[in-house]
Amino acid sequence: MSSLLHGLEVAKHNSKDSCWVIISGKAYDVTDYLEKHPGGSQIILQYGGKDATAVYEPIHPAGTIEKTLPQDKHLGAVDPATVATISSPQVSRDLDKTARIPLSHCLNLDDIEKAAERITNRASWAYFHSAADSLGSLANNQNDWKKVTLRPRVMRNVRRVNMQRTIMGQKSRLPFFIAPAARAQLVHEDGELCLARGAVKAGIPYCPSTYSTIPHKELVECMKAHRGNGADGVLFFQLYVPHERPQAVELINMARDLGFKALVITVDTPVVGKREEDERYRAELATASGDDSVLTEWSKPQEDEDGPPLRGHHSSTLNWDDLPWIREAWQNSGPIAIKGIQTAEDAALAAQHGVDAIYLSNHGGRQCDDAPSAIRTLLEIRRFHPEIIGKVEIYLDGWVRRGADVIKALCLGATAVALGRPFMYGCAMGDEGVLKVIQLLSEEIETTMRNMGATSLDQLNPSFVNTKRLEMELPDDLDFKFNQAALKAKL
Ligand code: GLV
Repeated sequence: MSSLLHGLEVAKHNSKDSCWVIISGKAYDVTDYLEKHPGGSQIILQYGGKDATAVYEPIHPAGTIEKTLPQDKHLGAVDPATVATISSPQVSRDLDKTARIPLSHCLNLDDIEKAAERITNRASWAYFHSAADSLGSLANNQNDWKKVTLRPRVMRNVRRVNMQRTIMGQKSRLPFFIAPAARAQLVHEDGELCLARGAVKAGIPYCPSTYSTIPHKELVECMKAHRGNGADGVLFFQLYVPHERPQAVELINMARDLGFKALVITVDTPVVGKREEDERYRAELATASGDDSVLTEWSKPQEDEDGPPLRGHHSSTLNWDDLPWIREAWQNSGPIAIKGIQTAEDAALAAQHGVDAIYLSNHGGRQCDDAPSAIRTLLEIRRFHPEIIGKVEIYLDGWVRRGADVIKALCLGATAVALGRPFMYGCAMGDEGVLKVIQLLSEEIETTMRNMGATSLDQLNPSFVNTKRLEMELPDDLDFKFNQAALKAKL
């Protein structure tokens, strides 16, 4: 008795109309999934009817396909003798792995990035390093910090410095936390566990992604196991709202039941951004595998109202009216933050809708091209909607690399900042790497505070920064620029 599928049968399903792939000896029907694949349909189509294990495994956490595809799309085992094997394609340029950089040589977060690059495979590197389109948002994140300068005060006693902060209602020993970033196992086999352990040891919060490669329950257990010896650290839950509401409610229930302390709803990803570094890598891989024909295909926009298909798994209909059911599911289990606010208008709307916190972010420059940096959005809020400062808590991320960046954000009204990529790069070097990121940043914050004449974070205020250069680039008047009704009234 053999219910094994024959490789030739699988091979017939190699088109958009019917697309099967073989992963680790099992066949899957991915036809309905093609347009949902965050990396686009073409890369899957290219392996339609074939064994895609060699290209699939390095870039997908274990269990992804089992979790993503409904059971009826799991077609069963394939007779290995009937499958033509394809060898793992290699792209010509690989990363420079000549010399490892020891952590002791890492003096700042840029060094951590360089050290991680040396030991990370190209597929994983492309995922974490990439940003959207022309990299305009990323450049704004990188450049805007320097447009704000510090105004140090001297002749103050700064022998003792206190860096503690309450973040989303939880005590933190430092004014930053670990931002959500998906798929940590791409850089280290312990994945998010390294980040959870680092957060506990340092006493800071960690906000794992919906797409954590380690199950959330294990992260909670890991935090509990390491707490107790005086260390603390808590977990916040980052929510990507899925297309289907029941799935979203299930995720929120899980976070609540597991005791996550805050709900951080990411709202800037109705579709996954166009990340060319990833795409370029995939294209090179396709060419190396000998068949890149599907990469040149273009699916003409539909004539119907729905437009082209969406990439990714997130709700594209998410809007302010969804907040009530999200709130109801969360049952007041902690603060709710909206992550991905990029304008003063949306900050004001979030405040009007009664959220506890806004999290200014352009998703590390990975979503909309040429979007403002978080520090710029913070200034925009100060200029156009100052009334919300102090009413909602403000968090932000986006190329925070220096202690001075943290101080600038706090002077302008942020409660704390978050860091994504630097922690992923640290994670590539395991627990030690994560702790090194925390150590480097906290030392810089402490030194900067002393040099600024501040002994506690509460003393920081706008008089410590000069924002003029960045202010010059803000819109003069939101009404004039964006509100047609107000414009008409003025005329
Ligand atoms: C996920 O959050 C991503 O930006 O890839």
